[in-house]
Amino acid sequence: MSDWTVPADRPDYEEAVEAALAKLDLETKADLLAGIDMWRTLAAPDAGLRSMTVSDGPIGVRGRFWTAADPSLALPSPTAQAASWDPELVRRTGNLLAAEARRKDVDVLLAPTINLHRSPLGGRHFEAFSEDPYLTGRIAEAYVAGVQERGVGTTMKHYVANDAETDRFTVDNVIGERALRELYLRPFEMVAAAVNPWGVMTAYNTVNGTTMTAHKELMDVLREEFGFDGFNVSDWGAARHTVEGVEAGLDLAMPGPLTVFGKALVDAVREGRTTEAAVDANVRRILKLAARVGALDGVEAAVTGRLEAIEDPDALLREIARRSFVLAKNDVPAGDETRILPLHADVVHSLALIGPAAAEARVLGGGSATVFPPHVVSPLDGLRAKLGDRVVYAQGVDLFEQIEAANRGFTLTARPVAKDGTQLPAEPLANGDVKWMGYVPGGLTADEFDHALVEGRYVATKTGEHVFGTRGFGHHKLVIDGETVFDQDQEFVSDDPFEAFFGPGVERVRIRLDEGQEVELRHEFTPFDFPPGFPPSVLFGLMHTEPRPDEQTLIDEAVAAARGAEIAVVVVSTTALTESEGFDRADLRLPGRQDELVAAVAAANPNTVVVVNTGSPVEMPWAADVAGILLTWFPGQEGGNALAEVLLGAEPGGRLTTTWPKTLADAPVTQVVPDDEGKLHYEEGVFIGYRAWQRRGTVEPAFWFGHGLSYTDWAYESIEVVGSTVKVKVRNKGAVTGREVVQVYLSPDESAEVAGGIERTRLAGFQAVEAGPGEEVEVTIPLEARSRQFWNEQTHSWETVPGTWKVKAGRNVADLPLETLLVEG
Ligand code: BGC
Repeated sequence: MSDWTVPADRPDYEEAVEAALAKLDLETKADLLAGIDMWRTLAAPDAGLRSMTVSDGPIGVRGRFWTAADPSLALPSPTAQAASWDPELVRRTGNLLAAEARRKDVDVLLAPTINLHRSPLGGRHFEAFSEDPYLTGRIAEAYVAGVQERGVGTTMKHYVANDAETDRFTVDNVIGERALRELYLRPFEMVAAAVNPWGVMTAYNTVNGTTMTAHKELMDVLREEFGFDGFNVSDWGAARHTVEGVEAGLDLAMPGPLTVFGKALVDAVREGRTTEAAVDANVRRILKLAARVGALDGVEAAVTGRLEAIEDPDALLREIARRSFVLAKNDVPAGDETRILPLHADVVHSLALIGPAAAEARVLGGGSATVFPPHVVSPLDGLRAKLGDRVVYAQGVDLFEQIEAANRGFTLTARPVAKDGTQLPAEPLANGDVKWMGYVPGGLTADEFDHALVEGRYVATKTGEHVFGTRGFGHHKLVIDGETVFDQDQEFVSDDPFEAFFGPGVERVRIRLDEGQEVELRHEFTPFDFPPGFPPSVLFGLMHTEPRPDEQTLIDEAVAAARGAEIAVVVVSTTALTESEGFDRADLRLPGRQDELVAAVAAANPNTVVVVNTGSPVEMPWAADVAGILLTWFPGQEGGNALAEVLLGAEPGGRLTTTWPKTLADAPVTQVVPDDEGKLHYEEGVFIGYRAWQRRGTVEPAFWFGHGLSYTDWAYESIEVVGSTVKVKVRNKGAVTGREVVQVYLSPDESAEVAGGIERTRLAGFQAVEAGPGEEVEVTIPLEARSRQFWNEQTHSWETVPGTWKVKAGRNVADLPLETLLVEG
């Protein structure tokens, strides 16, 4: 339905692909279907093919090197992008990502993540857009269009139903046909139809008994029914079968070079277990990708010419962040006449800013979506820039959970050392983490490399007991001020190869230091072999923990600061151990004593605003006791500036893309752990998110899907169905210019019978509008036929739900003041 202009294939691609294919022998073809390392494909110079580079995705472009020495812009997280409900803004986000990709010589971005928010416990919730398939699809179309119109490919991921992390390599998600079609496949269908994505990534998990990288049936749905004509890359380490993989249309097994393809594929052809024709079909798609991104000689890339530069990327990052923030609550504090927000810079005399995340901003979630941003603006930086020393900061609680990569007070470099003893040039480290993934710097091969050497010093930031430690599988030798404090192996004991990337640090020694005291550090690390299938990498860390403060003192100081200020702003957050790829959450509680902190601050100052800096829902037991709640997600590197702008008057444009429960127990889907047979049953069918909340009807969530307040008030004036569109008029009744997301939902006839039940409401369209005080605007929202259909599991086809539909418009799924009828046919 969206009419994005997408780059078309050039007419000579097919011929060029056939000509290149004809020059490749079976061995080269089989190698082409496997990566040569972590991120690159094989070059075949005789066929005019250069190597291509892929990179994560989705909040920034990491590039081949995962190091602070090669920084990447950090955008607001995908949930935040979607919370803008603004496809045009997301398209511009895609443009920015493409510019980053080009700067880093990346041909294909491993994004967007278009799995659904099935349960709030999902560890990668922050990386997906929404609980609603239609909203996910619309945002994803814009994302893909934005990246690809700048000549960089995308991979919709993870196909399909990678909605949780527990046992993600082995879990068998058992999903009914209807839920698959209406929910989980739907965003892939929409993107394939609207914007011709150049890639898809097949997931780790199994669906209904077949692993996704060999799932011929579901790949056929994607290619033959949805019209997808791009390449299919496995998730990293997900390719498991040579013959079934190639025949299911898996075109690139990553990472390489040791995969199920290459030699194993040549053998399979030679032994007659599959055919060279099957291999050719996949190679053609790799060659077509090469043509599209400009990696194949003799044909022009799909997008050529100089691309308009992105002026002032930080300004765009702030705009996306502001538009994503959801003003969930904005009350008039007791004894006051106006709502707590916005604050007015000229009349605020004192503001107590509280919380660890106010000073150490959490701008992104964990896992492969992590990038090293060039700078980070914390809430404290942002507010100080606007209000100067009227801002008083108090940490409030100690969110320490585990030893972290050496950071404040450290000056470190890392260098590779060759087997012959040669020390290669050192690179500066932003923190104690070294992630040489699939390569060794300085051009050393894995065979020539012996160990890595981190050197530097630490100037103690506090007096007390300092903990030093190590992370990474291999041999560590840690020397502090000339004394060897640890000289042993750290073993790899997990089933999950990604432990090598994201595994925790381990404490090795405690040393008492006075503030300002300096120590010399030397950390040698010799890696073990990597888990099979992963290219040699050097991943380790020098870890450190500062002396911990007394928590009750922190809380008391925060309460005193709040009491002494006109306004208290508490920033609460999750931690690296809460929201990440690789594991799910066990609960929705804010870590540490943050709930207690908010309650204490709110008791001390009625003008308390809580800024919730999390990627996904958290319980807020204090919600009724604070005047304002602003949800800021993981807001990217410019988050602190955007926050200051919004607190001081810029319209917070966001609306929830997922329903927020009051407690985990209220959430409709809380099962993300497979049973003893490794199966996770999607028993709820199509009833996830608001669909489930409404069907149950007995429990109110904290905030409904679509919810988000504006700094002005809106009146919903009229609704009319004209042909296949809905026209809605809204008026800005307030005193300031504002932005509203007009949402259109459909409700089926109460007598409509659909096996398994039908939802009470479905999102069918939306459009953001801006209007000045008193101004009326009309939006015209197209309705897709699909919004009135269901998937019939008997006939295996879409069918229109019979009867009269109600068409409703309003500000969230549970607040729809306008209603009219739509008679089918
Ligand atoms: C993740 C993917 C990611 C890939 C490469 C996997 O573990 O699931 O989303 O693109 O790693 O980093």
